[in-house]
Amino acid sequence: MNTAPLQGIKVVDFTEVQSGPSCTQMLAWLGADVVKIERPGVGDATRKELQFDPDCPSYYYLQLNSDKKSLTLDAKTPDGKEILTKLIKECDIFVENLHPGAMDKLGFSWEAVHALNPRCIYGTIKGFPESSKYKNLKAYEPIAQVTALGASTTGWYEGLYNIPTQSGAALGDSNTGMHLLIGLLAALLQRDKTGQGTYVYQSMHNACLNLCRIKTRDQLTLDRIGYLTQFMQYPNGKFGDCVPRSGNTEGSGVLGWTYKCKPAGGLDSEIDANNYVYVILQRGAKDFELACKAFGFEDWLTNPDFNTADARDRHKDEIIARIGQWCADKTKYEVTETLSNAGVPVGPVLSTKEVMTDESLYDGNTLVKINQGGKIGEFVTVGCPFTLSNYQPTYGPCPTLGGNTEEVLKSLGYTDQQIAEFATNGTTAPMPAANTAQPK
Ligand SMILES: CC(C)(COP(=O)(O)OP(=O)(O)OC[C@H]1O[C@@H](n2cnc3c(N)ncnc32)[C@H](O)[C@@H]1OP(=O)(O)O)[C@@H](O)C(=O)NCCC(=O)NCCS
Repeated sequence: MNTAPLQGIKVVDFTEVQSGPSCTQMLAWLGADVVKIERPGVGDATRKELQFDPDCPSYYYLQLNSDKKSLTLDAKTPDGKEILTKLIKECDIFVENLHPGAMDKLGFSWEAVHALNPRCIYGTIKGFPESSKYKNLKAYEPIAQVTALGASTTGWYEGLYNIPTQSGAALGDSNTGMHLLIGLLAALLQRDKTGQGTYVYQSMHNACLNLCRIKTRDQLTLDRIGYLTQFMQYPNGKFGDCVPRSGNTEGSGVLGWTYKCKPAGGLDSEIDANNYVYVILQRGAKDFELACKAFGFEDWLTNPDFNTADARDRHKDEIIARIGQWCADKTKYEVTETLSNAGVPVGPVLSTKEVMTDESLYDGNTLVKINQGGKIGEFVTVGCPFTLSNYQPTYGPCPTLGGNTEEVLKSLGYTDQQIAEFATNGTTAPMPAANTAQPK
């Protein structure tokens, strides 16, 4: 049995860049038939962004568009509108992430699509919730992170680099795509009960904010008591009226920090940047004892400055300095092995190179190799992030620009002659440059 959960579900994918495509790629991996609409001659903007070869789509595009079909279509032309209308009438899900107001201008707002096909679920991504004063802003990843607590709480809390800092993880983009996916899957289940499609509005702001609940927790605590015990400012530094940047402190009540290790002599040995390990001291007495024994710091067990979790919160500097010394003559892998064997939460800081060359992660899902063929050959991407015990996605190539145009148009009933006309009247291919030469 390898029944795809979304087998038979038809998706019209009017998304580009990262947020929308990350969602529709998941729909495709779950078995939906995804037709990606791309502008004739141009396609998704990421096709030509950060290319490694001018003749090939970039790895940006390749990471996000596997297993889709590409239909080139200018939805501003009358024929383009007619084709899109036909596709919408047959589809289960329509997804778009154009700038605010663009879909209304094209004539394919939620209301218009719902009138065409009441069963169609309409997914939309915008930067901000409809209630927000920023709702008309165009939005990219950093805009989401800086406005939704991602950046104001990330980075160093003192010194030259006390600057709002965004995460390398795509909290505004792919995270938003995954949030929209949840909404779309819920809407599919709801449709089974109501027979009606629904409008799923997902803002990048909401998706990012949804991952910042520990920061809203901290603001509530700060408002109430004026300090936060897990931050380095406690107990001797000053707190302002908002949650400070957390540096490398752990987000919860346990005491965690990043410690520099001896260069491992491996993949990142030339660059010292990732010779670090993250170590956590848990709050429980039993766990603390395990850690003290592993470090050889048994004296802490009887010292009132360290032998309770509250005392440790007041002596973070001394703890960090001593564990730092202990780590300095060991590699991050040695520290990880010793401490994990003793039951202490620990993990090495891993570089992109280390993760992508870890063969154990090529388990069929975590990291996957897709054969794109041609000049590109094989490339690596991150697979479906969860596994289903009775379904295994297959990971196929990304479409060439307009590679499925003929096939999709034929499935809508268009004749060869009509398809040829669409290619010359600007509907599915750019209009030929006007002949400006004067007749003799
Ligand atoms: C990403 C974003 C900032 C880009 O904005 P943009 O440069 O204006 O590009 P858009 O793709 O939205 O729209 C450009 C134009 O192309 C048009 N267009 C796009 N695909 C088209 C198609 N297949 N046929 C005809 N026109 C098309 C749009 O209608 C729009 O026309 P308009 O300016 O006359 O309204 C904006 O789309 C946005 O804020 N999206 C919502 C949030 C989001 O998803 N951000 C991206 C995160 S990765």
